[in-house]
Order: sequence, then structure tokens, then C-alpha cells
Amino acid sequence: MLVKGKHYRTIWQNPGNLNSVFIIDQTKLPFSFSVKELKNFKDTAKAIERMQVRGAPLIGVTAAFGIYLAALEARSMKSDIKKTIRFISDASKILSQTRPTAVNLFWAIENSLNKIKTALTAGEAVSISLANAQKMAEDDVQVCEAMGMNGLELFKLLYREKKLKRLNILTHCNAGWLATVDYGTATSPIYKAFESGMDLHVWVEETRPRYQGGKLTAWELGEMRIPHTIITDNAGGYVMQKGLVDVVITGSDRTTLNGDVCNKIGTYKTALAAADNNIPFFAAVPVSSFDFNIKDGINEIDIEERNSNEITVTEGLQGKLIRKVKIFPEKSPVKNFGFDITPSRLVTGLITERGIIHPRKSEIKKLK
Ligand code: MRU
Repeated sequence: MLVKGKHYRTIWQNPGNLNSVFIIDQTKLPFSFSVKELKNFKDTAKAIERMQVRGAPLIGVTAAFGIYLAALEARSMKSDIKKTIRFISDASKILSQTRPTAVNLFWAIENSLNKIKTALTAGEAVSISLANAQKMAEDDVQVCEAMGMNGLELFKLLYREKKLKRLNILTHCNAGWLATVDYGTATSPIYKAFESGMDLHVWVEETRPRYQGGKLTAWELGEMRIPHTIITDNAGGYVMQKGLVDVVITGSDRTTLNGDVCNKIGTYKTALAAADNNIPFFAAVPVSSFDFNIKDGINEIDIEERNSNEITVTEGLQGKLIRKVKIFPEKSPVKNFGFDITPSRLVTGLITERGIIHPRKSEIKKLK
């Protein structure tokens, strides 16, 4: 998507030098747009862990590039194929320990390792893992575009049925192009609708504690000149009660076979408020974000707990300097849960690249 009018993806390589990978350092947004080079698999693992790259689909694609960088490292050590595979499999263990919740990370690693198994030399492991990472990135763009087109049909339907003059969408966290390679999942239908000339407005929940809504989604929408308003997470229910929301759309880090949606902490409360106000709640879920092996989201998904500093310390711009300030009593214990589960009964539908489906096993298992 566009940054100051120039097209960017969230991850790319320079055609003349494929020995490294570039990302947008998302921890610096919205105050500065900074590009970071990842030179080896450890850089990649750190970038995922520190959330310089984040969002389920992008975490997966970045890990696939991490495996490619590991293959390059193994080749540069003149390893035979046995040692190469061992090195890559050790690297993949480190990559898989970076963040526990988004299933795309494990999906991408498993997918890459399965492909590399056929390599006979370190050189082949390099070319297979590169082709695989590049394909995952390209596929992600196409998948997000397809979800956008499917979501656009839904928006058109709502527009007609409710005889709207303007469609008001509410979203939580960042399921935008920054969370994928391009277009986003939940934001892709928004971009498609805006491009098609539909009058729309987006309520952006700020998304405590890391503010992916206020910092990232709002920045993205602003760069695309899409009308939007940031609200606190607590205000979502209020704007719904006031009739100011027509549809809620979020992303998902892992959706179970029964249609439970695991997404950024706070999504469940937003879905509860939507149900109470008869507002449709959709999650945009690429097939890569389904976990077909589990049914019960609440009991079976490993929910990431992050450092309490993310809650007790807040950061912002003062003049030209980024300042960090403590905001709570130092001795009070804090828990920082990263995600929650929205049970399928609160989900109206799942927007996938293959169409919009109901959140139930009979429909989800057909995607496998
Ligand atoms: O902790 P994050 O910023 O990686 O969480 C991101 C989300 O929860 C997104 O909504 C989710 O990954 C879907 S992204 C298209």
C-alpha cells in the first residue's frame, strides 16, 4: 500500500542482493518510517519477538524468510546436507519460540521444513527455501486481495439492505497491510470499498497496551486518505449503542475448527457489544490462520503473555523526542495477556479468500 504516495510491501528483498531481507520497523510507527535489514535468522527471530514485524500472516512470511537466511548461513559454513538440515531445524526451533499464538508462524515453518527435506545439497536448500518464502509472500498478497473482494460484496449488501449513505465500520488492533505482506485481512475490504467509491468511515479502537489500532491502523488509513476516527477500546460499545456502527470486522491469529476466533486482547468484548446491539461481527481469516487441529479456542490456544512494561510504561512524542513514562503504581502486579477468544456464537461470519462462511465445523473443515 502507499506510504507518502509510494508503494511499499511490509517485507522485501533487493533484486541485486538476495542475501538479506528488508522490513518496516513497526515499533517506530507512526512517528518515523524506518526500514530494517535482516541479515540472518537470529535477526529475523528478534524482529518477530520484538514486534518490529507483527500480525499473524506477516509473522508467518517473515519466519519463512528466516529459514531461508538460515539455509544461507549453513551454505556459507560449507555444511553438507545433513549438517545443513540440522542447522535449519535448530534455527526453526528458535523461530518457533518467538511468539506462541499466531498459528501462521508454525504453519509457515512446517511448510518450509517439509519442502527443504527434498534438498540434496546446501545450495538446493537455499534455492528451495528462497522460492518457498517468495511464494508465501506472493500468495499472501493474492489471498488478501481475494478476501478484500469477498468483503467488498458483503459491504455492498449491507449498504443496500440498510439503505446507507455511509458505511460505518469498526475494527480492533491492526489487521491491515502492516500485518500482512500487502492489503491486510480486515482492512482489505475497506481498501477495495474505498477504491470503488463507497462512502465509508472506520472507527479504530486504539488497542491497549501496544496501540496497534491507534498507532498502526490509523496511520495506514491516513496514508490512504480513508476517513477514520480513533476511539478508546472502552468506547466501542458506546458508539454501537448510538447507532454509529454498521459492521465490525477484525483479523484473527488462530481460528479453530469450530469457528472460535482468537485475536488481539479486547476483541471478545467488542464482539459482545456487537451482539448486544445486533451488529454483524466478521473476522477476516486467511486459510493459513485456521488451526484445523483444535476445536475449543478457550482451552486449547496458548495465549501469549508479554512483559508488564507494555502496560505500565507508555511512550509518545514530545517535541522531536520519543519519551517513555510510567503510569501506574510501581508495586501493583500486572498481567499482560496478548489475545483473547471470541466464541463462534458471537461471530456472524468468517471472510476467507475462498468466500464468506459461517463459523461452524461443517463449513470450516472444507477449507482444509
Ligand atoms: O500482537 P500483534 O500485533 O501481532 O497482533 C495482531 C493481531 O491481533 C491481528 O488482528 C491479527 O494478527 C490478524 S492480522 C491480519
